[in-house]
Amino acid sequence: MTRSEPNLRIPGPTTLPPSVREAGGRQMINHRGSEFKELLGRLQVGMKPYFGTTSDIAILSCAGTGGLEAAIVNTLSPGDRVLAVSIGAFGDRFAKIAEAYGANVERMSAEWGWAAAPDEVRERLSGGDVQAVLLTHNETSTGVMNPIPEIAAAIRATAPDALILVDTVSSLGAVPFDMDGWGIDVVATASQKAWMAAPGLAMVAASARGWAAMETAKMPRFYLDLRRHRNAMVDGETPWTPAIAVAFQVDEGLRLMNEEGQAGVFARHVACAAATQAGLQALGFDLYADASHRSRTVTAAHIPEGLDWKAFNADLKREGLVVAGGQARLAGKVFRVGHLGSVSVDEIVDAIETLEAVSMKRGRPVEPGAAGSAARRAAAEAALQPA
Ligand SMILES: Cc1ncc(COP(=O)(O)O)c(C=O)c1O
Repeated sequence: MTRSEPNLRIPGPTTLPPSVREAGGRQMINHRGSEFKELLGRLQVGMKPYFGTTSDIAILSCAGTGGLEAAIVNTLSPGDRVLAVSIGAFGDRFAKIAEAYGANVERMSAEWGWAAAPDEVRERLSGGDVQAVLLTHNETSTGVMNPIPEIAAAIRATAPDALILVDTVSSLGAVPFDMDGWGIDVVATASQKAWMAAPGLAMVAASARGWAAMETAKMPRFYLDLRRHRNAMVDGETPWTPAIAVAFQVDEGLRLMNEEGQAGVFARHVACAAATQAGLQALGFDLYADASHRSRTVTAAHIPEGLDWKAFNADLKREGLVVAGGQARLAGKVFRVGHLGSVSVDEIVDAIETLEAVSMKRGRPVEPGAAGSAARRAAAEAALQPA
């Protein structure tokens, strides 16, 4: 970040490192040639450790929502019973996609701000033959991260044959995930989140059980048919013309992540999350998410009563800080600070200091300098915690 540019602190699209920007401006290549084949191979090798899988990853040219749609239409048939576990706006969207294609969706909705309870999932599944469970790893609308290993274990114990489809759009690449170890069947993420690239690619991986389900699934599909993607991958291609510029960027993003090391990437996200949470609290903002399941990639805070958010946010923008507002029922109630992808503790402290300056201007009681110090302290303490 340079100060001539805004500090883009929304939960994706995230800021692009200079070399990623340059990568996106490269000359085009033949997407049916050896250079693209090598690129696709590097994306596979680079991403698999973040997915926690040895399965191939389909690279789709679409938004993250397309990845979620691919997860559904490839594995399910109209009329299939689906348990949609929703903890916010994106969980609701996942359920809506399944409904749009004719699944028989039962919803299990947690109170917003809270994670899903594994015991409740177990209870909801005990009644019968659910074909699939939809989960959100990181609920970007509320800043809550679900305990996927515990929920997946509850599903496996109660409904061993149910497919587990997980939206990891705003988490994968930033926090540990073990698709194979946790028994997850389909995982979908998107380039504009932790992968430090522009929007345009969704990356989707499926387990052996997931691939088997695709052979019998009857929901209509063509562009998002993962079997076509798998067949094309054998030749180092995608079935349709891919978003090559974004693929260049993800390739460069992965090179940077590789340079930092996976443990370093995860630790940086822990530190930035801790700094954001501590800084906001020191400024008197109450955090929205339950403390035991706060997200490591986005933090939501209540807009205090009496604060003119529109005017406050306009001041933030003038000072070069871009944060996100609330979604759906949280519009006007919370604001969100993204801390994923190419993000540093310095950028978080910068954001906190801007929030402090605007708070002071708007007459909110803050102690000058305290929030920035609290943010730095929290980041340093987080760095001392075991991973
Ligand atoms: C958890 C989650 N799921 C799905 C999406 C949808 O992604 P897209 O906007 O790329 O379709 C988002 C986007 O913010 C998200 O955060």
